[in-house]
Amino acid sequence: MTVCKISLIPGDGIGPEQTEATIEVLEKVREVFGLKLEFIWTEAGDDCKRKHGSALPNDTVHTLENTDACLKGPVGETAYDVIVTLRQMFDLYANLRPARTYPGLKCLDPDTDLIIVRENTEDLYKGLEFEIASSVIAIRVTTVKACQRIASKAFHIAKQRNGKKLVTAVHKANVMKKTCGLFASICREEAKNHPNIKFEEMYVDAAAMNLVREPAHFDVLVTTNMFGDILSDEAAQVVGGLGMAPSGNIGEKFAIFEPVHGSAPDIAGKKIANPTSMLLSASMMLDWLGEKFGDSGYRAAAHSLEVATMKALTERITTPDLGGNCTTQQVAAAVAKRIALEAIK
Ligand code: NAI
Ligand code: MG
Repeated sequence: MTVCKISLIPGDGIGPEQTEATIEVLEKVREVFGLKLEFIWTEAGDDCKRKHGSALPNDTVHTLENTDACLKGPVGETAYDVIVTLRQMFDLYANLRPARTYPGLKCLDPDTDLIIVRENTEDLYKGLEFEIASSVIAIRVTTVKACQRIASKAFHIAKQRNGKKLVTAVHKANVMKKTCGLFASICREEAKNHPNIKFEEMYVDAAAMNLVREPAHFDVLVTTNMFGDILSDEAAQVVGGLGMAPSGNIGEKFAIFEPVHGSAPDIAGKKIANPTSMLLSASMMLDWLGEKFGDSGYRAAAHSLEVATMKALTERITTPDLGGNCTTQQVAAAVAKRIALEAIK
């Protein structure tokens, strides 16, 4: 079994509560599947800035550099200094944000099973904002390289998924003729290399509407950084809420897995945060490690973690955001128990 080092950033607000719950489950996964997972705790975010004067200290970056993957809780107001910076620093160019419904849970359409493939390193999130006289100007960066690799990733994922084999390129090329125009034309070119995958284009405003009108239409949505950020919160709500939404920031050699949502200060400390977003992020991480090291044990563990999470939720062991009255820890304990039961079968 491959030895994998995982850096852990608990983050702010509900982050530490979710991380504690997720580690409890991962320890059960490690035991049941005999995984050689090693956790290395580190810090980033608002609390870290208060303590150490920096939201992303060099020590944290070094810790990440010396691990195979990172599992991160949400951070607060320092999100740009932490996660947007890490995405660019480690060239984690693809942000994968799946949204699928689980049986029995509230959702707009029970057949929804989609993934947003978001370009993760440029666009307006490059942070190039300037004050000029009494105005402010932002620069939107779109490069051929970034468009090509995200388009290629989207088609690769569409091939791998057991879905509708449809890639929808979401942009606004009728208005942003140069930036979105480049993105759209590269997606169109990439589509020609994949005759077995259907391809369509959709303006982002129409995509926002269609995500609510007919979410089951979609399979893989590929889009630019800011549109992907906005549409993924919307997609999360379509399948039950942000507490259900995991993500992976994927590069060539390194990846950071984290919930789609933020630190949820309105419910922090109440012990009612839905841990699902982080549990499913951990499942994505195990799957990615399995692929990276060609180790089927990690992939089996990833699948078991997802199935156990789904079982607990469909048996109505849920936090208040999903209509239940369980605590974060009770959901985690139920998932851990189901992993053990799965292994006995
Ligand atoms: P948010 O995503 O933290 O919360 C939006 C709503 O969703 C709130 O009502 C919250 O209670 C609910 N929610 C989120 N996660 C939940 C969970 N697991 N279980 C139950 N309910 C949940 O968005 P908001 O309030 O705009 O941002 C709060 C902070 O998070 C900000 O400081 C922002 O900068 C930061 N942020 C950090 C991100 C990251 O670390 N990647 C991403 C997005 C925001
Ligand atoms: Mg967001």
